[in-house]
Amino acid sequence: MVIIQTKRLVLRDFNEDDWEAVHEYASDPEVVRYMEWGPNTEEETRNFIKRAISHQNEKPRRNFTLAIVLKSEGKLIGGCGIVVSDPENRQGYIGYCLNRNFWGKGYATEVAEALVKFGFERLNLHRIFATCDPKNLASARVLEKVGMKLEGHLREHKFAKGKWRDSLLYAILDYEWKKLVEK
Ligand SMILES: CC(C)(COP(=O)(O)OP(=O)(O)OC[C@H]1O[C@@H](n2cnc3c(N)ncnc32)[C@H](O)[C@@H]1OP(=O)(O)O)[C@@H](O)C(=O)NCCC(=O)NCCS
Repeated sequence: MVIIQTKRLVLRDFNEDDWEAVHEYASDPEVVRYMEWGPNTEEETRNFIKRAISHQNEKPRRNFTLAIVLKSEGKLIGGCGIVVSDPENRQGYIGYCLNRNFWGKGYATEVAEALVKFGFERLNLHRIFATCDPKNLASARVLEKVGMKLEGHLREHKFAKGKWRDSLLYAILDYEWKKLVEK
């Protein structure tokens, strides 16, 4: 069972009861605009939760898809994750998605910081990366705020929702992160 505490949030493993709170944001067209998935049907959201739960007992565990819960209200306000995509080279990536009612309060930055810390300290990663649509300015800003560097603009990187989409690639290395947290 994974539980990551931050100042205002708890990142924890999903359970089946989380379905409704996830569907609240996963069915919102504004939230999923730059995602490869969504807006979800109820079945798609239930399948997402099932997939997330199915990773919980993997050994070694490589996929940590976690719920974002607001400590003050106990409300599930989003989902996030870190995935060890290449164990031999100690590479992984992060992602996050928040209910629109909770945007603009620094929560995604808090989530990304915690995932990066978890990736370096607990998963022993060397490089953590993330991609986002170049039009997703808020997400790019979050990645910059956690100290990731822009490594490139990937042309027609993903075919999603009927068209080819570019991605920005951001990453941070373990020693860069150590320098940042030692400051
Ligand atoms: C992207 C997302 C996670 C950001 O969450 P959030 O909690 O609002 O993010 P934060 O408050 O931590 O930080 C957002 C930053 O982006 C900035 N920002 C927001 N909208 C912006 C815009 N249109 N242009 C430029 N900057 C913008 C904010 O000002 C803030 O930066 P600052 O602290 O320097 O002022 C949220 O909008 C979301 O869930 N979007 C839908 C899902 C998604 O796109 N996920 C990422 C996929 S790559």
